[in-house]
Amino acid sequence: MLELFSVLLFISHHFAYAEYNELALDTSAEFIEDFYLKDLRRQLMTDEDTVLERCLSIYDPGEWVQFMLYTRESATVYEELFLGNLTSIEDSKFDKTKETKIVVHGWLSKVHMRFTRDIRKAFLEAKDCNVISVDWPSMTEYTIARFSVGSVAAKLSQFLSFLINEAGVDPQSIHLLGHSLGAHISGIAGRSLQNVTLPRITGFDPSGVFFSSKPEYRIDASDADFVDIIHTCGHWLGYYDPIGHVDFYPNGGLPIQPGCGFDLGYCSHCRSYLLYIETITSDEPGFLAAKCDSNSDFNSGKCCSDITQMGENADRKARGIYFLYTGDQSPYGLGNQSIPAQCWDQADTIS
Ligand SMILES: *[C@@H]1O[C@H](CO)[C@@H](O)[C@H](O)[C@H]1NC(C)=O
Ligand SMILES: *[C@@H]1O[C@H](CO)[C@@H](O)[C@H](O)[C@H]1NC(C)=O
Ligand SMILES: *[C@@H]1O[C@H](CO)[C@@H](O)[C@H](O)[C@H]1NC(C)=O
Repeated sequence: MLELFSVLLFISHHFAYAEYNELALDTSAEFIEDFYLKDLRRQLMTDEDTVLERCLSIYDPGEWVQFMLYTRESATVYEELFLGNLTSIEDSKFDKTKETKIVVHGWLSKVHMRFTRDIRKAFLEAKDCNVISVDWPSMTEYTIARFSVGSVAAKLSQFLSFLINEAGVDPQSIHLLGHSLGAHISGIAGRSLQNVTLPRITGFDPSGVFFSSKPEYRIDASDADFVDIIHTCGHWLGYYDPIGHVDFYPNGGLPIQPGCGFDLGYCSHCRSYLLYIETITSDEPGFLAAKCDSNSDFNSGKCCSDITQMGENADRKARGIYFLYTGDQSPYGLGNQSIPAQCWDQADTIS
């Protein structure tokens, strides 16, 4: 475990330097040297407020957050929306009569990279909506990115308040979706809103590394009216314990996910959103799931009384822990084969 983690740290340093040279956006290269990372990790697990107080005067990742709007009319070139600048919204293709999907990437990612790019394409193909991609400085050593969650979430929360209170966007039209650290950013941003509860936040394999069990510092069921979580790399890069209203565990929710081969965790960690993306563009329920207390009971066909579907069309009244199988390559959805044959009679109730 420790060795694997060292490898990941090494990879992240590598990315941090590469990104530093290319974009000059993150201050990571010099910044890391100024940090007592070990101490920081310990504090992140126990007392995040002190970390923020201590670090934000040196480096505030929230200052680098960008909000990029994509619509069907501007599907390839984004329009940047600025917090506090109403003109930037009025002059853009943003249409408040449509649904707004807000997408937050995780560690070592950017809006032009796979998660944000592919989910945005799927949404715009499937529905005429606004997609706002949130970009934040994630090309840093993991601990720095982890520490950034609170401050990026605060910025996103301010932006959401701005959309709702000043641009007149109906909060009921907003859906937040985040991968990895982005899932925690989405959750914390949602819960920080005053007098507003968002209808839905979706977390794709929320990060498990250096997260305490305190719900105020991570995504949690109290962050929105409906919080759905997909776990695919539990006990490793992802958080294993159930933390939403509904928690889906494809193939048991653990690495290594089918088809990933030799996997340090990245493939399994990203599988969470690849499964979901399929459900955006398909009308078929590709991922049926059965409510069950354990994966072994699920496997033996003992849990058939409560079947629901995972993904964009999830039932917002679903509650609890659900298991399912997936394929090992795209398309991953198996339809009724995603639950044991004993449960197929029940599956007919899902359309
Ligand atoms: C607001 O955004 C527009 C672009 O959308 C820009 O032209 C303008 O300068 C911005 N205003 C301020 C005060 O930053
Ligand atoms: C939230 O509601 C309370 C009580 O109704 C009110 O005093 C406060 O101003 C509201 N805050 C915002 C940001 O609307
Ligand atoms: C399983 O799904 C297939 C394809 O959608 C369908 O033809 C078949 O009837 C289903 N089987 C059962 C037992 O529901």
